[in-house]
Amino acid sequence: METPTAPGPDVPRRSLISGSAAMAAAGGLVLGAGAATAAAAAMAPNGASGVVQGARNGDERHPFYGEHQAGISTPPQDHLVFTAFDVTATTPVELQLVLAKWSAAMAELTNGRPVGKVQPARANGVPGDTGEAADMGPHGLTLTLGFGPSLFDGRFGLEKFKPAGFDQLPAMAGESLDPAMTGGDLCIQACANDPQVAYHAVRNLARMARTSVRTRWTVLGFGRASAGANQITPRNLLGFKDGTRNIKTEEDFAEHVWVGDEAGQGWMAGGSYLVARKIHMMIETWDEDPINDQQGIFGRTKQAGAPLSGTREHDVPDFHAAAPGGGPVIPADSHIALAAHENNGGTKILRRGYNFTDGLDAVGRLDAGLMFLSFQRDPEQFVALQRKLGSSDRLNEYIRHVGSGVYAVPGGLPAAGNYYGKEFFPG
Ligand code: HEM
Repeated sequence: METPTAPGPDVPRRSLISGSAAMAAAGGLVLGAGAATAAAAAMAPNGASGVVQGARNGDERHPFYGEHQAGISTPPQDHLVFTAFDVTATTPVELQLVLAKWSAAMAELTNGRPVGKVQPARANGVPGDTGEAADMGPHGLTLTLGFGPSLFDGRFGLEKFKPAGFDQLPAMAGESLDPAMTGGDLCIQACANDPQVAYHAVRNLARMARTSVRTRWTVLGFGRASAGANQITPRNLLGFKDGTRNIKTEEDFAEHVWVGDEAGQGWMAGGSYLVARKIHMMIETWDEDPINDQQGIFGRTKQAGAPLSGTREHDVPDFHAAAPGGGPVIPADSHIALAAHENNGGTKILRRGYNFTDGLDAVGRLDAGLMFLSFQRDPEQFVALQRKLGSSDRLNEYIRHVGSGVYAVPGGLPAAGNYYGKEFFPG
């Protein structure tokens, strides 16, 4: 079992986190690119060895540095905190400072380390870390950072770094979006096997940048609703297995998820595009629907999760199999018939969604659903599928898309001393 690396010396951590925060608070926006790099380099190196811990004792961890950000091909952890932020900073240097501080802090957090002193030495010292995850271990925490199209709107001089065609998603059928749950200049997807660890990470990242970013919308996912390689398929809140035919092989990741050099933006190489859709479910209505209708809606059986053309979960769906009374066994307007790559010119996306609940709505109905998260090489992959699903999916009677965002997720950081977005700022 990997031994967690001892916390790094306090001095460099303070100089980056507390020192920078103090500097920003004092309006002393003096950090240039060189200083940001030096500050990030001063952080204690990531203790991740590249070995992912399998044991579920809290010590499981995923390497922070690498070609791709963690939290994409990482087999989905149990819990999610997704948060989108508006940048309130007014200068490029302030934004640069946020990105440098966050990158360094993410390396600490994903190794189960605090971002500052939980117990300050001075009696009047304010804790640098809020403390609710102290001694808990990383619990497989991953923190995945994305940039919304609005970050490139000119406020920070980043127009030339915007990937071609990267814009807010177009309006689509089947949505009734709440503006308070859409967009954001930045987003963080925090996933962990313990909800408090994920919450602690986002809380502390938001806290250390509070003079420069404001939380725009957030969703807490309490159970994974997708499967990665070698994972048992979980169920969504409609009771169906979700993630059976998800992307699981390296070949599919290379072809459908990771951005190559096609974006014309070096900072996106090895990255991906994240689409977030908060999807409300009409649960009470669904719960009264007979089993044959529920199964026809998905094109799969409820208990086994088998395609209606087969008997076992991983049987390959046969969309041409004919029912005795005529017509296909898997209805043409079922969710899987509409979404399957066989019927969409080979298009595939990585689904990495979570079940969420926000308690009850204003009239006492369950306010719950699926925080749909997908990663793809081009947002157009999602748009093409959703256009089709939004207009024809039988499932639409029971769901409504209420929140939405699209984010460019840069490639991974090679080693300590680097930070997301470094390419945006003059050296
Ligand atoms: C609340 C909304 C949704 C629910 C409850 C849901 C549920 C499911 C279920 C149960 C399956 C079958 C098992 C599997 O292969 O994973 C499935 C498959 C799939 N879904 Fe969804 N889904 C939802 C929204 C979406 C959206 C918005 C998209 C994309 C625009 C999407 C794309 C897909 C794809 C690509 C498949 C695989 C189809 C196949 O290859 O057989 N889903 N979904």
